[in-house]
Amino acid sequence: MAPASSEFILPRTGRVLRNRTVLAAMTNKQSEEDGTLSDAEIAWLVRRAEGGFGIVTTAATHVHPGGKSWEGEMGVWGDHHVPRLTELADGIREHGATSLAQIFHGGLRAPRSLTGQQPTSASINLERGVEEESRELSDSEVSDLVASFGEAAERCERAGFDGVEVHGAHGYLVCQFLGTRTNRRADRWGGDLEGRSSFLREVMREVRSRTSEGFLLAVRISPVHEVGIELSESIELSGMICDWGADILHISCWDAFAEAGEGDQRTLTKAFREAIPEGFPLLSTGSIWTEGDAEFVLGEGADLVGVARAGIAHPDWANCLGGGGYEPERAPFTPEHLLDAGLSPVFVDYMRRWKGFVTDGRK
Ligand SMILES: Cc1cc2nc3c(=O)[nH]c(=O)nc-3n(C[C@H](O)[C@H](O)[C@H](O)COP(=O)(O)O)c2cc1C
Repeated sequence: MAPASSEFILPRTGRVLRNRTVLAAMTNKQSEEDGTLSDAEIAWLVRRAEGGFGIVTTAATHVHPGGKSWEGEMGVWGDHHVPRLTELADGIREHGATSLAQIFHGGLRAPRSLTGQQPTSASINLERGVEEESRELSDSEVSDLVASFGEAAERCERAGFDGVEVHGAHGYLVCQFLGTRTNRRADRWGGDLEGRSSFLREVMREVRSRTSEGFLLAVRISPVHEVGIELSESIELSGMICDWGADILHISCWDAFAEAGEGDQRTLTKAFREAIPEGFPLLSTGSIWTEGDAEFVLGEGADLVGVARAGIAHPDWANCLGGGGYEPERAPFTPEHLLDAGLSPVFVDYMRRWKGFVTDGRK
């Protein structure tokens, strides 16, 4: 098995990734009110490119002003975003990493207090913690949103990004279309798996049609999710995503060491590996902290390994691999440690919401 520090060639484009590590998408609440990237957000990502990651992914970034889910969220819905997106893409490239912008729409989780409009979703939905019920998107509104994803991807390419990752995981709009609980539509966007995945399929088609041959298209999914996504269907969906021309299938496992569930004792990585065509690039993320963890997940059949929290605390995580025994310090971290790692005070404060990550006292 090739180690995490070895290069990987994406088969469709022939693009060479310098190693098999990916900085997974991480929201950090540092963008300006209108979605424009701030200096701090650019600096934190460029620092991870400098730290050796093969791919650096941006935070989830909304493709339409109505899809904004939280304050300080990055946007790619307007041409005013392009100059700073270009700075970020240039910075990542200068340090030898491949860049992906994670494009998304919050759907029912995009509150009126941020967007000025009632949240929209596949169906009328309400979940704990949201301000109000979403309304169901009309057929033409769904098509308009498909176009917004395509326009956003086109904008990212213009800014110099190497590709986009469509965020189909974690309960946001694409995921809401996929879920049986959040998508109860009777039209072409709902029904069986084929219908519920048609929004994702059309988004992928639109991204492809508006970007060049060499532009990368990754798709991130949740293997299971409370919106009504079950493992068996996700596995079926993964094959469809490969057929629809993705370059990378990204599974968000949260715990890449756990059993897949539904009686399946394989890890999620192995279950998906065995379901998708041989050689199709599989990226797996969730609770990878040490070099040994990364090698385990590659051994289960992933081609690429994603890290989030380890990459926050250890900007040079990817550069430290290669010897086999890299075991970086674990959380909790002091604010000083995180500031030294290139986080701004705003980001450090946000990380206090992640249980056990930040400590003000002695460890
Ligand atoms: C601060 C923070 C922000 C996150 N934001 C996003 C996001 O914008 N999009 C996304 O798909 N996942 C997001 N995630 C999930 C991570 O990409 C990753 O899947 C998860 O943290 C598990 O990986 P880890 O154990 O290496 O942290 C976020 C995670 C963290 C810690």
